[in-house]
Amino acid sequence: MSENTIDYQSLNIPPAPFSDPSIIPDFPKNKVPRHVGLIMDGNGRWAQKRGLVRTEGHKAAEPVVVDVIAAAIEAGVRYLSLYTFSTENWRRSPREVRFLMGFSRDIIHRRLQQLNEWGVRVRWSGRSPRLWRSVIEELDHAQELTKNNTTIDVVFCINYGGRAEIADAAAALSRDVEAGVVSPDSIDEKTFARYLYNPDIPDCDLVIRTSGEHRTSNFLLWEAAYAEYDIVPEMFPDYGRQAFWRSIDHYINRDRRFGGVTK
Ligand code: IPE
Ligand code: IPE
Ligand code: MG
Repeated sequence: MSENTIDYQSLNIPPAPFSDPSIIPDFPKNKVPRHVGLIMDGNGRWAQKRGLVRTEGHKAAEPVVVDVIAAAIEAGVRYLSLYTFSTENWRRSPREVRFLMGFSRDIIHRRLQQLNEWGVRVRWSGRSPRLWRSVIEELDHAQELTKNNTTIDVVFCINYGGRAEIADAAAALSRDVEAGVVSPDSIDEKTFARYLYNPDIPDCDLVIRTSGEHRTSNFLLWEAAYAEYDIVPEMFPDYGRQAFWRSIDHYINRDRRFGGVTK
């Protein structure tokens, strides 16, 4: 290996996502989901099955997160929402919560340069109260650094809950009503959606959940109202690029009717 070649294998970072076009499935451009949400579930079980502590499963998930972002770029996905820490995850042991806070912050820190090189715009969706100050600072820095990138928006959903987002939107909208900026009679779904955490991001088309669980766990309740769901059996550390493309393929073969009739 030459001196100025990065040894991606030892860094556990996959090479740039534009390496070998021949292995990328040829998805029809207009059929690829614009916005994919991913519930990265099963880290704890993955570790326990191997006789390891749960946090080892979170560590094993880090390269998979990077791999999935690469897969999404290659597939032509424009927005990727990653469920990283929910408003309900505070119920876990203080030790695991502490680990997840520090780990979320450190992943963003460690991977930022790579993501920036790939043209990723890093974003955050979630509530500030309770969230570690250092996590918010890392997110602020990442968002500022990558704000002009246009390849893909990767939204880290940290201290995120679908109901919390809707409640926060209702509170923000009420303040505008009180200030006389919005008339209650004019409020419709479009008005309301302007008060979500990232109103410019379109509705979610596909939600993927690893580890075989069939529930939303409070993820993107508003944005995924008409999303397709792909529940996959792999624990998240066993998921990856090929598996993500399979999920995209499943989505492309769905018949989305939105309450209407297509055939
Ligand atoms: C998902 O894996 C990661 C987070 C929720 C932060 P889990 O930690 O939920 O792992 P399981 O579902 O208990 O196996
Ligand atoms: C959902 O997984 C939250 C994240 C992946 C961040 P959980 O493991 O917390 O959800 P439940 O407890 O199975 O509903
Ligand atoms: Mg879980």
